[in-house]
Amino acid sequence: CMMSAQQMLKVFVTRRIPQEGMKILKKAGMCNLSVWDSDEPVPRAELLKGVADAHGLLCLLSDKIDAEVLNAAGPNLKVISTLSVGFDHLAIDEIKKRGIRVGYTPDVLTDATAELTVALLLATARRLPEGVEEVKNGGWSTWKPLWLCGYGLSGSTVGVIGLGRIGLAIARRLKPFGVKRLLYTGRQPKPQAQEVDGEYVPLDTLVRESDFVVVSCSLAPDTQSLCDKTFFSKMKKTSIFINTSRGAVVNQEDLFEALSSGQIAAAGLDVTTPEPLPTSHPLLTLKNCVVLPHIGSATYSTRGVMSALTANNLLAGLTGSEMPSELKL
Ligand code: NDP
Ligand code: DGY
Repeated sequence: CMMSAQQMLKVFVTRRIPQEGMKILKKAGMCNLSVWDSDEPVPRAELLKGVADAHGLLCLLSDKIDAEVLNAAGPNLKVISTLSVGFDHLAIDEIKKRGIRVGYTPDVLTDATAELTVALLLATARRLPEGVEEVKNGGWSTWKPLWLCGYGLSGSTVGVIGLGRIGLAIARRLKPFGVKRLLYTGRQPKPQAQEVDGEYVPLDTLVRESDFVVVSCSLAPDTQSLCDKTFFSKMKKTSIFINTSRGAVVNQEDLFEALSSGQIAAAGLDVTTPEPLPTSHPLLTLKNCVVLPHIGSATYSTRGVMSALTANNLLAGLTGSEMPSELKL
């Protein structure tokens, strides 16, 4: 049964999202939906206008939800549901202070993101984009013993920074390639690491001993710029750096320096600062840097499931019931 217009709860959706989620929101019959119906991010002024008096906000990782947005929303706002597992774009302290609940999308994107991380690691280590380019531009003259050689996983040491849901899924996928040692760091050792014979080591050891350093931690004050000049200076000259977490975990000037000076062999990034990375950015001039446009979770099915979960989290927040995936604040 439909609610009367007065009972309808205002929900602002900051982007065109996969139809799975929209169907759920419409079918619930309790939302007065206002959608920024575009594939491009909502301009800040429209976001501030759109959230006014909203009970629910469905947002993306490209929307910075800070005190200004929360104040613009006002006291109606009960729930923020983000179409992401990362929540570094949300001012959690401000949200908590106002008693607003938060929904997010853990687990459902773990496989897709781990798979993309493996693809990026192999593409970077075996120089696939360079090879494809050479085939197209005529650089492929003959089979050459020393041409386009890279690095393999067999017998290697892999270091995972942040063995969470995605980090563990990456480790599980990499092990069968013949990885000899699997090192990891984090805030505490993980019992789940046994499954991949993971060795909990200090960051310094991981960085010094790994042939592949894979970053899969969340972005927080203690991981901001974690990968800087000092970090890269400890890496082996033959090592590969992969980041599929958040761009701000890396100091990109320091990474550029490490890549262009030969301090490290190559880097593969699915995330950058800013996003999009300007086409004139120095990192894009380097052959040993593979940059992807933040597509970790981008499979049709994963994005559909994320959309549905985000809608269901939002509805639960509006009705004060248990959320399928609530972020514990
Ligand atoms: P989890 O919370 O399961 O994992 C995050 C991990 O980061 C935890 O194991 C945590 O360790 C670790 N961590 C936190 N602080 C530090 C630190 N100082 N040093 C080392 N590790 C640390 O999240 P998910 O695995 O589900 O997702 C991880 C991140 O991946 C997301 O936050 C998001 O930013 C990013 N992501 C990117 C995608 C893409 O498209 N490229 C797709 C999906 C996610 P501990 O358990 O000890 O606290
Ligand atoms: C996330 O969910 O945090 C990713 O960055 C996009 O799926």
